[in-house]
This record gives sequence, structure tokens and C-alpha cells, in this order.
Amino acid sequence: MTYSLGEELPRPVASTELFDRLSSRRSASAQTLQSPGPAPAVLDSILALGARTPDHGKLFPWRFVVMGPESRHQIAKALRPLADRQPDPKKAAAVLGKLTAPPVSILVLSVPVAGHPVPVWEQELSAGAVCMNLEHAAAAFGFSTSWITDWYSYDTEAKALFGVREGERVAGFIHIGTVAEAPLERVRPDVAALTTHLP
Ligand SMILES: Cc1cc2nc3c(=O)[nH]c(=O)nc-3n(C[C@H](O)[C@H](O)[C@H](O)COP(=O)(O)O)c2cc1C
Repeated sequence: MTYSLGEELPRPVASTELFDRLSSRRSASAQTLQSPGPAPAVLDSILALGARTPDHGKLFPWRFVVMGPESRHQIAKALRPLADRQPDPKKAAAVLGKLTAPPVSILVLSVPVAGHPVPVWEQELSAGAVCMNLEHAAAAFGFSTSWITDWYSYDTEAKALFGVREGERVAGFIHIGTVAEAPLERVRPDVAALTTHLP
């Protein structure tokens, strides 16, 4: 569904499907994401839904790099020697499996506008919100997802391999695919202990 600028949008309606999705949301382990992934037209829809994210100042301070398996395999090969410089080289090499297994990956980059009255922090939060929205959007088409950063999101040489530019930060790799087995519930926070109610 697309809307034109200024067009009246539907107001929220109670939705058991949305409630069920939110109350059972669970990430997949990236290594378990298999084909099928989203077809190109579905991927376009997922990106469009992901970009429908709160963003102070309408700056759109993020961008996407859509990565098929070939580019990720090539980059993972180039990352292998860089893994040796990590504090735990064996683990750093092992986690590259998360990068190569999924059929489709979206690298979300935070691209804050420096010197703008909207603080960079808020612009970075918007990039995080895009990641979450992409995960929900992928779920709307029946796909599972994994939001990963790992060491190569923070290593300067590694980031260059993904085409990360000066001033950009990795908000996450949103890996998308299909899982063979249902996820299991994990520990959840005591929401009441984290919440203050004011009159
Ligand atoms: C910004 C960000 C980066 C993350 N990076 C990693 C990562 O590098 N490796 C990892 O195992 N999980 C990472 N996670 C956590 C997973 O995406 C996932 O949320 C976590 O495994 C908990 O599962 P759940 O989403 O089903 O609650 C990251 C989450 C966020 C928000």
C-alpha cells in the first residue's frame, strides 16, 4: 500500500494478528536462516515498510545496502585474515557463518546529519528503529530475521569492505530468511520492575 503526500491515512484498528506477532516476536539465529528469502519485489516492500520509521526532522538519516549471498561470501573471505587481529580470533572467524548463511541481508547504516539541530543521538535512534521495522516488515511476509552487528561492524578495515563511508555507523545487518524449526521463548524482562507509573 502506498499513499500520496497529505493523503488521509487509516487510523489504528485493533488487530489480533499484529498483537500475536508482537507478543511472540523472536529472532532467529542467523546461521539457521535458509532459503527462501524474499523475492526482489517483496524485498522492495520490506525496505519501504522499514523506512516508514519515526525520524525527527524528516532527515532520513540512514541508508541500506542490500546484500545477496555472493557479495557476503566474498567479503567474508576478505574478513578472515582480519579476524586474526580480534581478541578471540577463533570466535571472530566462526561468527562469519552468520554473515554468509542467510539468503538475503540488509545492512542498515546510520548516516547522521552533523551540525543539525536534531541531535545525532536522535538520528542514530531512528536508524535502530528502522532495523526493528525491517524485522516486523519481513515477518509480515512470513520471514524470520536476525539483527546482528558482530566485530566487523566496528573494525575500520572491515567496514570499508562493506562500503561504509566516513561518518557512517553500522546500525545492524538484518538477515532475512526461513527457519526449519520454531524458535523457543527466551528470558524476558520484568517489565513492572523497569516501569515507573506517574499519575
Ligand atoms: C544493535 C543490536 C546488535 C546486535 N548484535 C548482535 C550480534 O552481533 N550477535 C548476536 O548474537 N546478537 C546480536 N543482537 C541480538 C539479537 O538480534 C537478538 O535480539 C537476541 O539474540 C535476542 O533475541 P530476541 O530478539 O528473540 O529477543 C543484536 C541486537 C541489537 C539490537
